[in-house]
Amino acid sequence: MLIEYFAHECNWHLYFFYERQYKNLLIYRNMLVARGIKKAYEQVSVLRGVDIEVQKSEIVSIVGSSGAGKSTLLHVLGTLDKADAGSITLHGQPIHSLKGKALANLRNKHMGFIFQFHHLLPEFSALENVCIPGWIAKKPTAQLQKDAAQWLEVLGLSDRLHHKPNQLSGGEQQRVAVARALINRPDIVFADEPTGNLDTANAQQLHDIFVQLRNNFGQAFLIVTHNEQLASQSNRILKMKDGVIIEQRSL
Ligand SMILES: Nc1ncnc2c1ncn2[C@@H]1O[C@H](COP(=O)(O)OP(=O)(O)OP(=O)(O)O)[C@@H](O)[C@H]1O
Ligand SMILES: [Mg+2]
Repeated sequence: MLIEYFAHECNWHLYFFYERQYKNLLIYRNMLVARGIKKAYEQVSVLRGVDIEVQKSEIVSIVGSSGAGKSTLLHVLGTLDKADAGSITLHGQPIHSLKGKALANLRNKHMGFIFQFHHLLPEFSALENVCIPGWIAKKPTAQLQKDAAQWLEVLGLSDRLHHKPNQLSGGEQQRVAVARALINRPDIVFADEPTGNLDTANAQQLHDIFVQLRNNFGQAFLIVTHNEQLASQSNRILKMKDGVIIEQRSL
């Protein structure tokens, strides 16, 4: 009797355990979810109802002709710009209405950014540039410097820690920017034409790095690119035209 009772109880516990895991899995799968995103500049509709989701360990590329609204979408999803309508959730939490310090904290801790131009601070070394988001997050300096050095090592820059940006090549500068985007272990890295300023060899190297970061660290990326080679290495390609996604392709 007692055994039956415990077996029954255990099943319930197991049931709740699996249900919780399953829910976690669903949230985990749909890490970043945006629905019905709209944005207009003056009278011009730039985003006209975009739905998108990005999962953990996923590289999603956004392609499309100039003016399609790719950067605008990336900025809105990265909370750098506000949508006029629609919702954005990260791990099931709504983030589109966050403001001020809460928004800055979210961005600092959960999102990384890489742009076409590296935007490294010229008077700081590679190591210091990588540390900046960690300083903002008030991480202890010693641990932060260790983490920054490790990320730079992962990105093949262990012998460039104390170089200033103008002492680095374009490819190296962009890899420092990648390390800076990763230092707070963000859920997702937003990249707007990250290879747009690089030659073919450096662009290829950066693509391989994104793939390695996905495979080895489960890093998710949402990348706007004109580079077909980069797009072809992603999990999914979304094609934008006139402010909407017109085509989706899984690879
Ligand atoms: N701040 C702004 N004010 C007014 N119009 C803007 C603003 N930002 C973007 N736009 C307009 O929105 C449209 C989409 O711009 P967006 O930068 O998102 O395009 P894109 O797809 O990234 O293009 P590209 O491939 O050339 O970078 C363009 O017509 C652009 O002129
Ligand atoms: Mg753009």
